[in-house]
Amino acid sequence: MSEDLKLSRPVITHEFQAVIVGAGGAGLWAALELARKGVKAAVLTKLYPTRSHTGAAQGGICAALGNLEEDHWEWHMFDTVKGGDYLVDQDAAEILAREAIDTVIELEHMGLPFNRTADGKIDQRRFGGHTRNFGEGPVRRSCFAADRTGHMILQTLYQQCIKHDVTFYDEYHVVDVIVEDGQTRGVVAYRIADGELHIFRASAVMFATGGFGRMFRTTSNAHTLTGDGVALAYRHGVPAMDMEFFQFHPTGIPGLGILLSEAARGEGGYLRNDKGDRFMERYAPKLMELAPRDMVSRAIAMEIREGRGIGGKDWVNLDLTHLGKATIDAKLPDITEFSRVYQGVEPITQMVPTTPTAHYAMGGIPTDVESRVIVDDQGTWLRGMYAAGECACVSVHGANRLGTNSLIDILVFGRRAGRSMAHDVAGMALPDLPRDAADQVRGELAAIKERQHGENPAHIRTALADTMMDGVGVYRTGEGIREAIGKVRELKERYRDVHIDDKGTIFNTDLLEARELGYLLDCAEAVAVAAEARQESRGAHAREDFPERDDTDWLKHSLAYRTEAGPELRYKPVTITTFQPKPRVY
Ligand code: FUM
Repeated sequence: MSEDLKLSRPVITHEFQAVIVGAGGAGLWAALELARKGVKAAVLTKLYPTRSHTGAAQGGICAALGNLEEDHWEWHMFDTVKGGDYLVDQDAAEILAREAIDTVIELEHMGLPFNRTADGKIDQRRFGGHTRNFGEGPVRRSCFAADRTGHMILQTLYQQCIKHDVTFYDEYHVVDVIVEDGQTRGVVAYRIADGELHIFRASAVMFATGGFGRMFRTTSNAHTLTGDGVALAYRHGVPAMDMEFFQFHPTGIPGLGILLSEAARGEGGYLRNDKGDRFMERYAPKLMELAPRDMVSRAIAMEIREGRGIGGKDWVNLDLTHLGKATIDAKLPDITEFSRVYQGVEPITQMVPTTPTAHYAMGGIPTDVESRVIVDDQGTWLRGMYAAGECACVSVHGANRLGTNSLIDILVFGRRAGRSMAHDVAGMALPDLPRDAADQVRGELAAIKERQHGENPAHIRTALADTMMDGVGVYRTGEGIREAIGKVRELKERYRDVHIDDKGTIFNTDLLEARELGYLLDCAEAVAVAAEARQESRGAHAREDFPERDDTDWLKHSLAYRTEAGPELRYKPVTITTFQPKPRVY
């Protein structure tokens, strides 16, 4: 065993009432709530906080403020439920839509530099699937700071956390969660700077670790989005919920996956095929380019498949040339710069090549509306564990998330997580730690470092990304998914022999990337197994062999439990309070 990871080596232990894993919007707002209430809490992040992936969210955060035209939270709730193809838990969607309004106002009061209307209100733009009067036509609901809204949220919340003396452990990579006798007791973290293991003993542990888009070849997700929280919870008996629903954003840069915000279409941009046609009129005649993402991504994939991609290639064009320089410069500065830098295209005068990119996990760690992690269909809480943001499944997005509902989800439910933790830990003694709390993960890390020969993690990661993209992408078939499951299982076998060259302790990112690959493999297996089982098409889960939605048999959430033989699936009902499922026409 390598010297630095010897089992005999003492581990440094820290004590906090609450520990938050991840410093994106959900983690930061939860931390802020805890700080305001005087709870001793720490935020652990494998990055520097302002590099969290919330910063990559571009086009806006929705709230029915009605600043430019009439709007109501009830319309927002309806759009969220319909957009999610009725797999949304409606009690959660109601909370999201209601609390969105004061959440955005609070952000404004914290100093977030939103774009403004002529009379000084927060400006709002259109986004896919957001409508007035229960589907009549598009509505301006997305509040925005140009096309860098997530970046502004991250900076604003981080500044508030600093102001409130939140304790941060930057570049501490959480590698295990400590759970014993049905009680969460803390986490084990690897300090990236020197390879030391640290235990954080805590009464409350919150996961805010984001998604797992890196399992796909073309993705808008940062390299760090490797499903850490979902996989760690899953390894400790928490099911992974609704994993089969993974969103492909319609407009990414071909080959790179970098996002070209839906705001481009919200501001009036068109999608055109090789013939120059606005093909969305054949797929969603009413909302056209502002239909929900699942529909637009499928339309693009179909145009490409039927040979109408640009020059027969696997992309179509985003046409902004009619918007004019002033609008583009004021409202879409970042994405147009991406096109100039990465594509060599001038969007003011030229069309921009674009293609679907793996973007967002609708599924994840199941929680109740107070952000407590639940482990079954009875709502049983795994004491001391919380989750919010993309890693969680509350479920407000159902089978397909609407654009801008992600930023509001992380803040509404991040804030709720903070409040729940503050309530639950009040007066509570810290839980005892098992004597061997760090041993298992230390052994697993040491095994990777010790191995002298074996598989290069990069080869496994590339094969995984190809497998998931080709077998469990925008369109799926039972046969293709089964092939993908077989390949993912082969890759899991190969992963047992994973080998890295760097045997050192200082910034050993090889070691951590190998660890992350294990998380991705676990998540990918759950995605594929749940997708194979669901014999219908709903939202982002488009089965060509089962093209219809089937509310009789499949209006239910999936729960994938980890077993030695692979994920075991169970199901639980969807909470329907207000809107009965209807055919989804746009
Ligand atoms: O297109 C975008 O700006 C992305 C927004 C979102 O995923 O909510």
